Amino acid sequence: MNSQDELNTTIKALVQDRKGILAADESVPTISKRFKAVGIESTEETRRAYRELLLTAPGIGEFISGVILFEETLGQKAADGTLLIEVAQRAGIVPGIKVDKGTIALANAPGDMVTQGLDGLAERLAHYKIQGARFAKWREIYPITPTNPTRLGMTANAEVLARYAAICQEQGIVPIVEPEVLIDGEHSIERCAEVTEAVLSEVFTALCRHRVSLERMLLKPNMIVPGKAHQPKSPAHDVARMTIEVFRRVVPAAVPSINFLSGGLSPEDASSYLNAMNALYPHAPWALSFSYARALQEPAMAAWRGLAENVGAAQHAFCERARCNSAARCGQYGDAIQPPVTKGVAPLPELDENGLLKDPGTWNESVASALAAQSGLGELTEDHWKIIRALREYYGKFGVAPAMNQVCHAYGRDWRWAHDLFHTCLGAWRVAGLPDPGEEAKSYLNDM
Ligand code: 13P
Repeated sequence: MNSQDELNTTIKALVQDRKGILAADESVPTISKRFKAVGIESTEETRRAYRELLLTAPGIGEFISGVILFEETLGQKAADGTLLIEVAQRAGIVPGIKVDKGTIALANAPGDMVTQGLDGLAERLAHYKIQGARFAKWREIYPITPTNPTRLGMTANAEVLARYAAICQEQGIVPIVEPEVLIDGEHSIERCAEVTEAVLSEVFTALCRHRVSLERMLLKPNMIVPGKAHQPKSPAHDVARMTIEVFRRVVPAAVPSINFLSGGLSPEDASSYLNAMNALYPHAPWALSFSYARALQEPAMAAWRGLAENVGAAQHAFCERARCNSAARCGQYGDAIQPPVTKGVAPLPELDENGLLKDPGTWNESVASALAAQSGLGELTEDHWKIIRALREYYGKFGVAPAMNQVCHAYGRDWRWAHDLFHTCLGAWRVAGLPDPGEEAKSYLNDM
């Protein structure tokens, strides 16, 4: 096979209806930080066991077409001695590899960064290819501040991405080009749109200059969203509209697929934004898919907690997110989050005497629906989900219960809104699957 045919074959295997890419390529420091947040020690063995858990999740090949691995994983084996890369292949998942070597400050562009790793890249790719990798990923990051990214930052990063992509294609490896405009900050959605448009415009100018075949690459960008600290959040249809508006201007139709990163969005937001794009723009020129790390893995990692007895629950949580994103890939996320109770598949995990989950790690959207049904709340609506997500986000950040008025004010309401939807604010806490918040918070939530 010549390298064009090889690239075409890989693109065809990666870009499939109802499927997206799992990013499981966290570097050792990054996964160690994420493990630490849920109480897992990071060792070569825990990282191996965790990635085995993901790749052996029953039925995962139905939703995932490719997996981006970290170099360490390439040589690791499953418990039965099979190389993890082969485990992926057997599940019908194409293995890929993160090849960049992280970022450093860009000289003469204060606040901007640039990614390293071009030296020796062709040789490394040839080696990874022998090991089974068929595609690669390289990420450049762009922080938003009043003065960043600078023009120099955008052109330098674009040049690096284009050189990487050209080298990959020369080696018969499909490049995933990842320019990530970071979500950190208080900036508006309009500012994110302005920066993303400028960044992508530079990236495609450089890709064309380096004669990268646009038909044989994938783009992995951020969605257009307001900064994480900006209030209020934008509704999904605004995110979808602004993202597609910007991309139509600057991403050539020759690119087969846009596989978004999740970039710190909650798993639910990452699914609902992707869903809105596919539901509102079914005739977009590119496939609109996902290549998430956190938004696919967060519930699974929290459920696992490094314990062998939690592998089943973690795999279930992972498959649930993959199933939701597979549905979002064709605008059917709403159907995917219908309470599986009605479909008879969500067993209710064990509860304590207050009706709170004994093990909050077993929570997922299906469990939320089952908890709601058990509390007589009926089917969860988008309003219920707004409160559930807000509670989970707040708890995830601060580890305590928020003032309910604060949660509801973000949507222009007061605590009575949560009360009416969940009968009591403690009911909302329960359905959100959060740990016992302590006596004082419980009685405050129960009185509302
Ligand atoms: P997130 O989906 O967590 O942003 O990760 C995607 C990724 O691969 C970052 O490089």
